[in-house]
Amino acid sequence: MKILGIESSCDDTSISIIDSNKNIIANEIISQNQIHKDYKGVVPELAARNHVLYIDIILKRILKKQQLEITDIDLIAATAGPGLIGGLLVGLTFAKTLSQVNRIPFIGVNHLEGHALTARLTNEVEYPFLLLLVSGGHSNFYYISDVNDYKFLGGTLDDALGEAFDKVANILGLDFPGGPQLELLAIEGDYTKVSLPKPLINIKSLDMSFSGLKTAVLNYSSQIDKNNISGCDIAASFQKSVADILCKKISLAIHASHKEYSSFKNVVVSGGVAANKYLRKKIIKTVELNGKSIFFPPPRLCTDNGAMIAWAGYELYKAGIKSNLNIKAKPRWPLESIGERV
Ligand code: KG4
Ligand code: ZN
Repeated sequence: MKILGIESSCDDTSISIIDSNKNIIANEIISQNQIHKDYKGVVPELAARNHVLYIDIILKRILKKQQLEITDIDLIAATAGPGLIGGLLVGLTFAKTLSQVNRIPFIGVNHLEGHALTARLTNEVEYPFLLLLVSGGHSNFYYISDVNDYKFLGGTLDDALGEAFDKVANILGLDFPGGPQLELLAIEGDYTKVSLPKPLINIKSLDMSFSGLKTAVLNYSSQIDKNNISGCDIAASFQKSVADILCKKISLAIHASHKEYSSFKNVVVSGGVAANKYLRKKIIKTVELNGKSIFFPPPRLCTDNGAMIAWAGYELYKAGIKSNLNIKAKPRWPLESIGERV
């Protein structure tokens, strides 16, 4: 089977074609970073307008490059939520129209479900698994029993981790989205020079909080270039605090999940922040010490992409799960309460 995946829930317009043998035939992403950077965040109306501008251009381009016709596609999957309503409407309407005109089955996919299942596209990861999803909008632990069977275990009470990375990067004078640049800045830094808090680290629950950490960075930033402290040191200390918090919570989640659910062998970390090499290194060590196997999607598939939507669509289709063609764009659509896809 060839599956077309369409992602437009935030500021990346992406269309991919994968096949049921896990080959990624095409994965095109048009990023709007340059458009939003002056505003230091995503402007929803601008994002929607730019999805409209590029979505059909990308489709034509990938079909031509692969010498395929739209009728060679067996299933169309598109993100139906959660995300920015304008962008969701663009991708979803485009996908439904393609499906109707060409009589190709259609399925609406939850964006978080896309992030959750990507590691199964790129690796042999068996169900059930423990998932830490860390992106620009979400930072949560889930127990993934099977496709369409997701349990929420806990997560951030305030900012998402990617959002905290972007805000801290902004304080340090980096462009939006700052996560990847902050990672580079931190390489040159010495975390021992700056003492930042690790909110909720010792609380015996999976609650996390990143907004206080961000405020602590703001307070510290006045000391840059004084007391021999540089932006690099602050970036390194921020990453160290984040790594310590995530590792502590991952260990807790492994033990909490063991008690509450059936035993599992695998831990998956996905979403944009999972592209961070420093965090990956620390997480690998923690998970292996806890006797589990750890999987991350490759960095390019950690951030938003159409391949993850195509793959989740294929898994749903294979399991006989359908979505109504009238499925609405859903700005809020928690992973654990997916329900009927209407
Ligand atoms: O998954 P994603 O592309 O979009 C959402 O679903 O939110 O995640 C985007 C987020 C941004 O906040 C970005 O700064 C962060 O992921 N990110 C990173 C890195 N690459 C992307 N954060 C830290 N280190 C990175 N290397
Ligand atoms: Zn995402």
